Amino acid sequence: EAAEKGGFPHYMLKEIYEQPWVLENTLGGRLKEEEGSAELGLSLDPLAVRRVHVLACGTAFYAGWVGKYLLETLARVPVEVDVASEYRYRDPVVEEGTLAIAISQSGETIDTLEALREAKRKGARTLGVINAKGSTLTREVEDVLYIHAGPEIGVASTKAYTAMLAAMALLALWLGRARGTLAEEEARRLIREMRKLPRLVEEALEKRPLVAHIAEKYHQAQDFLFLGRHVQAPTAYEGALKLKEISYIHAEAYPAGEMKHGPIALIDEHLPVVVLATEGPLYEKTLSNIQEVRARKGKVIAVATEGDEGIRGLAQDVIYVPKVHPLLAPIVSVVPLQLLAYEIAVLLGRDVDQPRNLAKSVTVE
Ligand code: G6P
Repeated sequence: EAAEKGGFPHYMLKEIYEQPWVLENTLGGRLKEEEGSAELGLSLDPLAVRRVHVLACGTAFYAGWVGKYLLETLARVPVEVDVASEYRYRDPVVEEGTLAIAISQSGETIDTLEALREAKRKGARTLGVINAKGSTLTREVEDVLYIHAGPEIGVASTKAYTAMLAAMALLALWLGRARGTLAEEEARRLIREMRKLPRLVEEALEKRPLVAHIAEKYHQAQDFLFLGRHVQAPTAYEGALKLKEISYIHAEAYPAGEMKHGPIALIDEHLPVVVLATEGPLYEKTLSNIQEVRARKGKVIAVATEGDEGIRGLAQDVIYVPKVHPLLAPIVSVVPLQLLAYEIAVLLGRDVDQPRNLAKSVTVE
C-alpha cells in the first residue's frame, strides 16, 4: 500500500499533488490554439443546444456550478445546476434543445444516474463528464467527455474536481466557438491561460508550508466560514465541503454578498473566515466583505492573487495563488483549500482517506 501511495502518507495528499499532470491529461491534446477552439470528439450538435441542465452530487455539483459561469459567459447558453437527488424528484421542465450534463467521478452515483435518466425520459440530449471508464453512466449518455484524472482513491475528491473544472472549461470553449459567442482572439487568450494551468497549480502546491502554519493556528476552531463570489462562490463551498468531510469541523460556505442576510450574525473573534479574494470582476466588492468580517473581529484567511500587496493590511493571513484568467481561478484557488482541509485533519488525527460515514461512491439511495 505504501508503494501505491507513491511515498505520500495518504492517497488524498498523493492525489492533490497529482493535479498538475492530471490537468495536462485533461487538457492535453484537446486544445487547438491555431483554430482557437477545442477538439472534444463529441457527436453533439453545438447549435442545437438551447439550454443546459447540469446534474451532479457532492464535489461534482460544485464543478457543475463553476461550469454554469463558464458556459453562460463563453457560450451564452442558459444553465441550471441541480443537485441530482433533487432534480430526479422535482418534475423538471425539459424544453426542446435541452442538453443534460451529468458530472461524476465514479459514473456510478445512483442519484446522478437517476437524474440523467429523468432528463432523458423527458427528451434531453445527454452528455457525461466522467472519470471512470466503462462505468454505468458512460453507457447511458450519448456523449462522454472523459476528465482523464486516473483512479481516485481518497474519499474526499481532489484531482477529479480540478479535472472536472478543466473539462467544463473545454466544453464552454468549444460551445462558445461553435455558437459564435466567443471571439477567436479571446478564445486564443483563454487557451494560452489553460495551457499554463499545470504549472500554476504546481506553484499553488508550493504554498503547503504556509497552509500548514495556518492549519496549526486554527485547527482547534469549532466552526469555519468560507466566502467567495461569482465563479469563486463554488470554490468556497468546495473548500467548506473538504474541511467538513475529513476534519469533521463544522464549516459553512456562502456567496460573500449574501453574508449580510444571515451568517454575519455568526462572526466573532473565534471564527476563522476563509475568503476567496482573487482578481476578477467582483474583487472590490469582496474586499468590502472582508472589511465587514474584520469589523466584527472575525479572523480572515484570504486567498489572493500573487502581487496583491494591499490585501495584507486587511487579512490576518494571506495565501497567494498565481494570477490566471478569472474564469480559471477556481482551478488554482481550490488547491490551498484542499491542503488546508488535509493539514487540519492530520493535526486532529482523523482518518483522512476513509472519513467516517462517507463512501467514495454512493450507489444506493
Ligand atoms: C460521494 C463522495 C464525494 C463525491 C460524490 C459524487 O459523496 O464521497 O467525494 O463528490 O459522491 O460522486 P461522483 O462519483 O458522482 O462524482
